Amino acid sequence: MLLKEIKEIYHRELDEIYPKEEVDSMFYLMIEHFLGLERFILAIDPEIVITKDEEQYMFEGLSKLKKEQPIQYVLGQTTFLDLKILVNESVLIPRPETEELVNWALEDINDMDDDLEIIDIGTGSGCIAISLAKLKPYLKVTAIDISGPALEVAKKNALLNEVNIQFREVDILKAGSLGKNYDIIISNPPYIREMERYKMRNNVLQNEPNSALFVPDNDPLLFYRTIAKLARDGLNENGALYLEINQYLSEDVKMLLKEFSFSEIELRKDIFGNDRMIRARLASIN
Ligand SMILES: C[S@@+](CC[C@H](N)C(=O)[O-])C[C@H]1O[C@@H](n2cnc3c(N)ncnc32)[C@H](O)[C@@H]1O
Repeated sequence: MLLKEIKEIYHRELDEIYPKEEVDSMFYLMIEHFLGLERFILAIDPEIVITKDEEQYMFEGLSKLKKEQPIQYVLGQTTFLDLKILVNESVLIPRPETEELVNWALEDINDMDDDLEIIDIGTGSGCIAISLAKLKPYLKVTAIDISGPALEVAKKNALLNEVNIQFREVDILKAGSLGKNYDIIISNPPYIREMERYKMRNNVLQNEPNSALFVPDNDPLLFYRTIAKLARDGLNENGALYLEINQYLSEDVKMLLKEFSFSEIELRKDIFGNDRMIRARLASIN
């Protein structure tokens, strides 16, 4: 079959669900990933023919995209700070906002001593822990998550990116402490309120793990309160806490951190202009 015919079929089947440009982009990602073809191949060779096996890959992918599976799950991978990160339905697909959180920590780590101990709470695919370990190889990185299947993915990603990370399965809502002290605590915990579901795209709601996304409407700060308490007891002197936050709850998180004796609380916006991350230090070590 001609590759250009497959492209037409992609548009015929998907244009009702996604914008045309997104369908183009998904088609090109699919041919790059599954067929090893460059995205400009059709411009060079408009009559290129693909094999039956290749057709099958493209049609299998198409049926997943029709069911609104995110392209990252269809490909089984994404990139995070230019690192390849494997993903499946057990883990949240890493977001660009989270890259900004990591970049903030990376900026600060330049100014600090080496040999730092760092923990990533709710590691999911491992994107935060792995990028920090890769870009600052002297860091001693621990990553925890409640989800065994997510940790399996994170371990594969650590191997793939050749970094050494200590992974632990921990439910932070039940853990009384982090087990030891850290210089940096970083987390992108679940923070979307159930009442915000209606704003989210179907492909997120139906495919990404709800336990990675949602918090109860009656206690949206559940994870921040838990992390603040763990951090108050588990941060070294001059240590810092970095949190990704719900844009609508930035003032509440700031207030909560003050209640837990944090100071130098700084809020930053993401590239979309939304309040998205907070850095804080302990005012005094208890
Ligand atoms: C928003 S996702 C973040 C994943 C990843 N760090 C990222 O930024 O893409 C939140 C993560 O917290 C984990 N999580 C949820 N409840 C938890 C708990 N009680 N204890 C530890 N981790 C938890 C979820 O399994 C999920 O991997």
